[in-house]
Amino acid sequence: MSKENQFPLLGSPIKIGPIEVKNRFFVAPMNETMSGVQGTVTEESRAYYAARAYGGYGLIVTGAIIATKMAARFVWGRNHSLYSMTHVQGLQQLTEAIHYHGGKVSAQLSMGFGRQGHSDDHDELAPAATANLPYEMCLDKLANNWDKRALSSNTVRAGLVGQNTREMSIDEIHSEQKEYCRNLQRAGIAGFDMIEIHAPHGYLEHQFLSAHSNKRTDMYGGSWRNRKRFLLETVEQARYACGYGMALGVRISGEEHFEGGITREEMIDLAQDMEKIGIDYLSLSDGGGYEEVGHLIIDADRWEHWPQMAKDFKDALKIPVMMAGAHDPKVAEKCLADGCCDMIGHGRQSVIEPHSPNLILAGKLDELKICKRCNTCLLRALAGAGMRCPFNPNLGREWAMDEYNTGPMQKHENLMPPALTAGMPVIDLPWWKKELPVCEKFPIPFRGPGPR
Ligand SMILES: Cc1cc2nc3c(=O)[nH]c(=O)nc-3n(C[C@H](O)[C@H](O)[C@H](O)COP(=O)(O)O)c2cc1C
Repeated sequence: MSKENQFPLLGSPIKIGPIEVKNRFFVAPMNETMSGVQGTVTEESRAYYAARAYGGYGLIVTGAIIATKMAARFVWGRNHSLYSMTHVQGLQQLTEAIHYHGGKVSAQLSMGFGRQGHSDDHDELAPAATANLPYEMCLDKLANNWDKRALSSNTVRAGLVGQNTREMSIDEIHSEQKEYCRNLQRAGIAGFDMIEIHAPHGYLEHQFLSAHSNKRTDMYGGSWRNRKRFLLETVEQARYACGYGMALGVRISGEEHFEGGITREEMIDLAQDMEKIGIDYLSLSDGGGYEEVGHLIIDADRWEHWPQMAKDFKDALKIPVMMAGAHDPKVAEKCLADGCCDMIGHGRQSVIEPHSPNLILAGKLDELKICKRCNTCLLRALAGAGMRCPFNPNLGREWAMDEYNTGPMQKHENLMPPALTAGMPVIDLPWWKKELPVCEKFPIPFRGPGPR
């Protein structure tokens, strides 16, 4: 076998909804904490993503972008934001840089941190599924390879305990969903090929799902059906708002790992519901959130069950399933061959080696650095200091490297973003009212929020 042919599946293209992706590698969403004032794109963050596209990743999923004004007041550290047209300029430059280097890009849009959020002065109540429910991280639940020295950092230590929460009202839920979809359309204008609804790791969307964090007694709490309502409504509205041009995906945790937490079977049931509504891909992560953080940023031991977990989802669905954490290309190729998933995500592997796909597909494994999961990147990110990597001294310096710059327009680039060519429906209206003619005219069926 020629060296180049060792990984035929990893090198094969895939269609996700309307979007063609050139290979099976994606950059898993990571909040790289390189954003600027009010969550804007910086030269540093644009070039960081461009470098991963240059390195051969077919798809790049951004770190969580905070997609409502209220949510942006409760970020932990630093995130990119998208809640006004002023954010579009930087995001447009970011998508353009990725497209220039031949990649496709998905915007991971978050409706907020919920009870895992912190206000600037740690004094405001964090809007969440339920009131008076701050989280508390247990040190013994951290991954084995966490560097406990980092706890001497004030910001990281402050994150061990959450601030108090208040319950979001039903009106507030609806207005947040509506604002989220309006900003999703702004992502379309900025040139994103895909939208990924951020619903894993104990953040707001996940909080509604879990009986651990959702103690509501209204239509958004109680039974599993009611706890799914917030996310399913958001998916339905997002599907409508996307129109036909962009693909829509969702990231969820495969299960929670605490007693009484959401089971894998329940999450598969949720994934099937979302597939029925019309999502184009499912991206899998794991764990109940900060209280189970060892399953969020996994060490090697806690990754072992992932291929089987992904297979359980894949067997129950028709849409592509994406899975992160397979750093070793031989393991990654086997996961594809065994039908565990359709795409392989590199989180920290793309940090240490942004050119991983090009090296792997060219058979240059002796040049490939494999991530040791030392989590320096994570600890820097948690402190809001911008990711850095002791084994990749150029991380964060990509802006100063010529090869990652954008040049004259290439033939493969599109002048019109997919969202605009295929059209997006008008949503800037009281669209939860049944009698809305604009919604009826648009060919995707839409039922607004409200009791089902
Ligand atoms: C610094 C850092 C930031 C992360 N930020 C996000 C995020 O914004 N959204 C998300 O869904 N997952 C996030 N993750 C989780 C990764 O997407 C991924 O699931 C995890 O790191 C495991 O994959 P890996 O072993 O390839 O790193 C983050 C991980 C790290 C290390």
